[in-house]
Amino acid sequence: MQDRATKEILLQQKAHVFWFYGLSGSGKTTLATALEQRLTSMGFKTKILDGDNIRSGLNADLGFSDADRAENIRRIAHVARLFHEAGIIVICSFITPKRGLRTLAREVVGEAALTPVYTRASFETCARRDVHGLYAQAEKGQIKEFTGHGSSFEPPEAGDVDWVVDTDAMSEEEALRHLCGRILPMIEFPCAISL
Ligand code: ADX
Repeated sequence: MQDRATKEILLQQKAHVFWFYGLSGSGKTTLATALEQRLTSMGFKTKILDGDNIRSGLNADLGFSDADRAENIRRIAHVARLFHEAGIIVICSFITPKRGLRTLAREVVGEAALTPVYTRASFETCARRDVHGLYAQAEKGQIKEFTGHGSSFEPPEAGDVDWVVDTDAMSEEEALRHLCGRILPMIEFPCAISL
């Protein structure tokens, strides 16, 4: 069996999992999508995992109770691990509301292989943006266990390794430039080597 190092030589990139998390509407999927476009245009091989492609299929049986969210994250982390083993740069975008869930993801993927990226925006900002109208529905009591309204969100704590991208303060382009500055040195292959 060929190991990850061999795949990385073939793909000329260092595999890594970037795990975007934060409130609904905090900008994680916007940033993840923009990041993937930028990396793809530079020739990197990437895969986005997000609610659209995971909760509609693999995790269609799961809801938003604490137990279901934990199972959601556990399965996603295992999928991310498989892509990582194949040498791919994986960009995950999930609320991942509890610190314990983020720890679980890091344990499954491997601590050195996963970087948690917190897209920080206040509850008020996210509710104002209300991209999908969910905050208004939660306010009317139409969505049970909505994150930030009936179900809690735990931000990272001082000392956590998590990166923080403040989408309240930065434009999308600023955030993307900031992220690329940190990400590129981690995924660029040191030098061209043939098998
Ligand atoms: S997680 O908590 O298990 O990480 P995940 O990121 O997969 O959540 O799914 C969140 C998305 O599901 C939201 O962006 C929103 O579109 C939708 N959603 C539906 N119901 C809820 C809810 N009760 N809480 C949060 N998000 C919900």
